[in-house]
Amino acid sequence: MRVLVIGSGGREHAILLGLSRDPAVTELHAAPGNAGTAAIARNHTVDAASREAVVALAKELGVDLVVIGPEVPLVLGVADALREAGIAVFGPSAEASKIEGSKAFAKDVMAAAGVRTARSEVVDSPADLDAALDRFGPTWVVKDDGLAAGKGVVVSADRSVARAHAADLLESGHPVVLESFLSGPEVSLFALVDGATVVPLLPAQDHKRVGDGDAGPNTGGMGAYTPLPWLPDGMVDRIVDEVVAPVAAELARRGTPFSGLLYAGLAIDAEGPAVVEFNCRFGDPETQAVLTLLQSPLGEVLGAVARGTLADLPPLQWADGSAVTVVLAAENYPGTPRTGDAITGADTPGVLHAGTKLDDNGQVVSSGGRVLAVVGTGADLATAREAAYTILDGVKLPGGHHRSDIGLAAAEGRIAI
Ligand code: GLY
Repeated sequence: MRVLVIGSGGREHAILLGLSRDPAVTELHAAPGNAGTAAIARNHTVDAASREAVVALAKELGVDLVVIGPEVPLVLGVADALREAGIAVFGPSAEASKIEGSKAFAKDVMAAAGVRTARSEVVDSPADLDAALDRFGPTWVVKDDGLAAGKGVVVSADRSVARAHAADLLESGHPVVLESFLSGPEVSLFALVDGATVVPLLPAQDHKRVGDGDAGPNTGGMGAYTPLPWLPDGMVDRIVDEVVAPVAAELARRGTPFSGLLYAGLAIDAEGPAVVEFNCRFGDPETQAVLTLLQSPLGEVLGAVARGTLADLPPLQWADGSAVTVVLAAENYPGTPRTGDAITGADTPGVLHAGTKLDDNGQVVSSGGRVLAVVGTGADLATAREAAYTILDGVKLPGGHHRSDIGLAAAEGRIAI
């Protein structure tokens, strides 16, 4: 099987690595890819947001399957264009991708499906902002009603901080979503979805704030771990039954079935799961940890979704133990990152590249905010953490920074519902 993976992040490197372990996968292509994917696949230059360019590349390479990693091409209909060209694709249609692309659409689907989520209001005029803010608090959640790579969200108990973010978004022409704050630990549950068929992956937890102890601004994600030792038995089934399956059924009922990876971002409290957000693709950096533990052949798994035969796939097989991802970010991330720094030690097993490229001398240099991630595994979370931080010790990036507490609260038994 020849496979083309669209995207250039750590998630795409993890997907390619998973595919490279599947004996049925004979040829791997990445577009655009990064310095790490170049070691296991052929990288190709492409405008990933262009329907025509991605279809032309897939045809030129004669691939059997295209896997679309990031949300932007999905929301722009790249999967639709591939399907129209008769090419098997892992990734939802533009219409189904609105579950991530439009927060208002997601809320409408959840209301129709009876799924528990935060109360919310869309504000599209500065004149309505103050009255709307008064209806929320004491913790305000302010989101961009569109794609913002995780950085469009401000959660603050300071009304003036929340107001300033909302005003900035409105000034730049973006409608704002205000939400009530959901308390309880967060869970990322990824599910393979093919119409009404739902197959959950292992639950994971992201660390969205830039600093230890959840200090500082939100990022695209600074680290993750899987599985979750504190999650009550049966909670994954409950999330599938109460959240993922009803949403998949509602999208199918509307004539826009979801085919791909549906990512439920949840808060779990005493009443059970409530949705913080949906994404229409694998999450980053959870994917790096989750796919590391997957033992089933990834080409067969993703191909089954793409061909509409997920219901016939044998149960997924998982390695025992835990996996921990720690992101190494560039200086100044999540602000404008410094790029072009030489990285050493990044060709070690367990290092997954994201914002990296090869310069003219063949040296790996940084090219983005989240530069790479390391993944450690172990019999339990504590040993997986040790393994991850040991790998990270061997990687050098001038000005680079990372969190030192990924998975720590869970390993110390400090997470409770
Ligand atoms: N883990 C956050 C995201 O992928 O959006």
